[in-house]
Amino acid sequence: MRQRIEVAREAILSAGSLIRETFGREISGQVEEKDRNDFVTQSDRLSEKMISETLLRAFPEIGILGEENAERMDDDEYWIIDPLDGTTNFIHGYPSIGLSVALVRESEVVLGLVFDPLREELFEASRGCGAFCNKRKIHVSGAGSLQESLLGTGFPFKAQQHLESYIESFKELFSSCRGVRRAGAAVLDLSHVAAGRLDGFWELHLKPWDMAAGALLVREAGGLVTDLFGGSSFLSAGNIVAGNRSIHGKMLETTERVFDREKVADLACDLIDM
Ligand code: IPD
Ligand code: CA
Ligand code: CA
Repeated sequence: MRQRIEVAREAILSAGSLIRETFGREISGQVEEKDRNDFVTQSDRLSEKMISETLLRAFPEIGILGEENAERMDDDEYWIIDPLDGTTNFIHGYPSIGLSVALVRESEVVLGLVFDPLREELFEASRGCGAFCNKRKIHVSGAGSLQESLLGTGFPFKAQQHLESYIESFKELFSSCRGVRRAGAAVLDLSHVAAGRLDGFWELHLKPWDMAAGALLVREAGGLVTDLFGGSSFLSAGNIVAGNRSIHGKMLETTERVFDREKVADLACDLIDM
């Protein structure tokens, strides 16, 4: 495992330097719209190429599920990469972006790295060994009630059929807590839950690469991660609730009531079986 961590670290840090160098520069001619409100830039592609090449050079036998090259993955062991999380932020020069690399082994995420290239924070977790930010151990917060919590979320801008129920969940959670932040990079939101900067986070319509590494970070930092209904298959369900042990349960009381399990089943992703 040590070799895998070291190579993944080298890959994410060098791709992160590239992203940092291009951040804030004029990139309008390099933006493509994959789907409504879903963008990709040359930097996303280059970052994924750099990370994949580094991983493949060291471990040619381990498969790769990358956002910009997404194909169903059934291998026993494979990497999941988000080469640039927060692409819309990146395009607008809004300083909230991250990179994410996770390793799955026998249907479990065993390694997760998230890099914030602008703050130069590297979050790392391996299963059973705790979570770290720049090598210092991190923990979820100790908040015991929503009234003392700061929550994070993401808006369902690509799944507006769920806007009404999402707004219902927002209304309830927003009116019970201290505040809600929406910074636009799910991998960072989850890392901030792991570091105790946010007490909880919820979002729907995410993909495995938005959640895999960050979810391991939260769990290894002592928190809980499930789908909107408390189930463990959030990576393929495409929706997530994460938080410290008490806040997670309190958030679920809202999400379980407000969302309809059958309706949100349209967000499921069949690229992985987890
Ligand atoms: C997006 C970000 C954003 C979340 C979106 C994701 P991308 O990832 O994580 O915070 O709200 O749903 O798709 O496309 O910038 O890698
Ligand atoms: Ca993403
Ligand atoms: Ca991305």
